[in-house]
Amino acid sequence: MRLPIILDTDPGIDDAAAIAAALFAPELDLQLMTTVAGNVSVEKTTRNALQLLHFWEANVPLAQGAAKPLVRPLRDAAYVHGQSGMEGYDFMEHQRQPLEKPAFIAIRDALMHSPEPVTLVAIGPLTNIALLLSQYPECQFNIRRLVIMGGSAGRGNFTPNAEFNIAIDPEAAAQVFQSGLEIVMCGLDVTNQAVLTPDYLATLPTLNKTGKMLHSLFSHYRSGSMQSGLRMHDLCAIAWLVRPELFTLKPCFVAVETQGTYTAGTTVVDIEGRLGQPANVQVALGLDVDGFRAWVAEMFRLAP
Ligand code: RIB
Ligand code: CA
Repeated sequence: MRLPIILDTDPGIDDAAAIAAALFAPELDLQLMTTVAGNVSVEKTTRNALQLLHFWEANVPLAQGAAKPLVRPLRDAAYVHGQSGMEGYDFMEHQRQPLEKPAFIAIRDALMHSPEPVTLVAIGPLTNIALLLSQYPECQFNIRRLVIMGGSAGRGNFTPNAEFNIAIDPEAAAQVFQSGLEIVMCGLDVTNQAVLTPDYLATLPTLNKTGKMLHSLFSHYRSGSMQSGLRMHDLCAIAWLVRPELFTLKPCFVAVETQGTYTAGTTVVDIEGRLGQPANVQVALGLDVDGFRAWVAEMFRLAP
């Protein structure tokens, strides 16, 4: 049986690679995709998501989500992904449209109608997930777990201490981390290791149409470089779902700082249990990098 998942995303170039894996990993059944403001505006992340679904001729519904964080103004990552959010490839025109309903309602409806628990995967800011849990707490019964790309037990990549997805909407992340949901956190501790090598990247243009398209996007992606290797942050969340043995998890108490002038968005990961609080998150601290690279190559070969 394939694992039913819902993917919340802010494409985003590394999101595009994760969406490929979510569509073509034989273990997964991508039932719904939703967009959120993050890397770029939600209008752009939605346009990008629809272009990817059209590119891969995927029969997956898409719902547009939050245009801004719960209480803070949106800050984006166009400096990493380009102004469009997916710079580097001219996608074909298409007629696809998002669903009429907003993302958090679309997720709620999918959960309430699913005959089995669904895994939520969030690879952007957690605004839609927080809205879902606060507006429709009754749907939690049918959420198997939440797997996120976000956070860090160490340094940040948007502020000195905060990783981008958490830093953009710390209030949403704090709500989600306190919700009681089973959460797996793939933070920078593993995603900074999830690097595709220059030699492998050079093989993509002649692999297939997916390789050619992703190589064009990767040439404009600024989390690393084509010369030093590129960090596949969001692919880690999908990798954990289908190859959990590649990861080392540790149950930890994790709090999200929302008040600090310099520290808002920090995930305070209590690895040593110094705060005496019960663990609320399974934190990924180790990655089999060679195994991850082999899996990514397998995923991109399975794509058209
Ligand atoms: O910190 C990396 C995360 O921020 C990834 O999800 C990337 O797409 C950006 O959203
Ligand atoms: Ca992302």
